[in-house]
Amino acid sequence: MTLSVPHGGTLVNQIDLDYNTSALSSEIEIDSMALSDLELIANGAYSPLVGFLGKEDYESVIENIRLANGVVWSIPITLPVSEEDAQKLRIGEMVKLVYNNETYGVLELQELYVANKTLEAEKVYQTTDPNHPGVKKLFERPSVYAAGPILLIKIPPKNPIYNHYYKTPSETRKEFERKHWNKVVGFQTRNPVHRAHEYIQKTALEIVDGLFLNPLVGETKADDIPANIRMDSYEALLKNYYPKDRVFLSVFIASMRYAGPKEAIFHALVRKNYGCTHFIVGRDHAGVGDYYGTYDAQKIFTQFGLEEIGIMILSFEHSFYCTKCKNMASSKTCPHDKKDHIHLSGTKVREMLRTGITPPPEFSRPEVVEILIKGLKNS
Ligand code: ADX
Repeated sequence: MTLSVPHGGTLVNQIDLDYNTSALSSEIEIDSMALSDLELIANGAYSPLVGFLGKEDYESVIENIRLANGVVWSIPITLPVSEEDAQKLRIGEMVKLVYNNETYGVLELQELYVANKTLEAEKVYQTTDPNHPGVKKLFERPSVYAAGPILLIKIPPKNPIYNHYYKTPSETRKEFERKHWNKVVGFQTRNPVHRAHEYIQKTALEIVDGLFLNPLVGETKADDIPANIRMDSYEALLKNYYPKDRVFLSVFIASMRYAGPKEAIFHALVRKNYGCTHFIVGRDHAGVGDYYGTYDAQKIFTQFGLEEIGIMILSFEHSFYCTKCKNMASSKTCPHDKKDHIHLSGTKVREMLRTGITPPPEFSRPEVVEILIKGLKNS
C-alpha cells in the first residue's frame, strides 16, 4: 500500500507568491472562514477544487454530495460577497481577495450568484435552526456568492503558538514517505484529546504505521476550547503517552462547520489529500447538540463506493472507561452495565474545566487537564 492518491487524481497547487496585483482595481473583502478556505484550496488540501464553487457545482454538492462532474464533495466551499462589493465587480476580471487590508489572493471572477441559504442549510446541515452554529454562520454571511479559480499570493499569518505545526499536503506527504509510513490514519478533532479519543487512535495505530493527529484550529463556536490552549495539551499527551516516531501532529486551519455527516465526508477527503490512507470516524463526528444521530456520520459513507471516497473509514463505537473492566472499552468489547461506565458530555467537561474542577483520570490524562484548567483560567 502507498499513500492515498489525492481526491480527483492530482494535488492542486494554486500558490503564486510572485503574483503582481498592481494592475487590479477590484476587490472583495473576505472573512476569516474564506481566508482559510482560500489557503486550503491553494495548497491542495481541498483538491480537486481550484477555486470557490460556481452555481452548478454548488447545487450539485448540496443535492447530490458530488461536484457537477460526479466527484464526491460534501461541503459547498463558497465565497460570500457583500452586495456593496458585488455591485462593483465585473465577470471575467481578476479580483483581489482582501482580509484586514491585506491582499492574500486573487479570484478570476467567473460567476456571481444568489445562494439558496434555506436549501443549503436543509441539505448540508439537515436543519434550518438558527441555533445550530453552522447554520447561524451560514445565514450571517452575505447571500451573493462569487465563484472562479483562485491563486494564493501571500501566506496568511498563523498564531505563533501553532505556526510551526502548519504543513501543506505536499509537506505531510513527504514527511510520511520519509518516515516510511505506508498506512497512515488521520484524526480530526476540535477538542482536547481525552481518553476515549486516545483509545480509538491507539486501536487504529495497532493496524497502521502512523497517526496523523490533525486538530482543527480554525474558527470554532465560542464555548469550544480555543486552539491555542489545546495545542499545549496535545504536546503534553504525545510526550507522555505516545511513541514519538508513530505520531505526526499538524494543524488543520479550516473553520468548523458542525455539519455532522456531511462534514465527516469532507474531513475524510481532506485527510486523504494530506496523504492519509485511513480516517477515524467515531461517535457523532463533527456533530453538535442533538442534530445528528450518534452514528449518522459513519452511515453516510455507505452511499459511496470505496474507490469514490478513496480513504478507508475506520468507524468506532462510543468509547468509555469501564470501572469493572478497568479499561477503556465500547459496547462491542464490554459486557457491563451503563452505570459502570465513566462518560462525561463535552458540555459537562468544559463546565468542569472552566470552574477549575478536575475531570477524573479515567476521562482525561492529568497532564492534559492541568494544562486546560490553567489555560482557561488565563484566557
Ligand atoms: S469533532 O467535531 O472534531 O468530530 P471531537 O474532537 O470530539 O469532535 O471528535 C474527534 C473524533 O473522535 C471524531 O471522529 C469523533 O467521532 C470521535 N469521538 C469523540 N468522542 C468519542 C467517544 N467517546 N467514543 C468514540 N469516538 C469519539
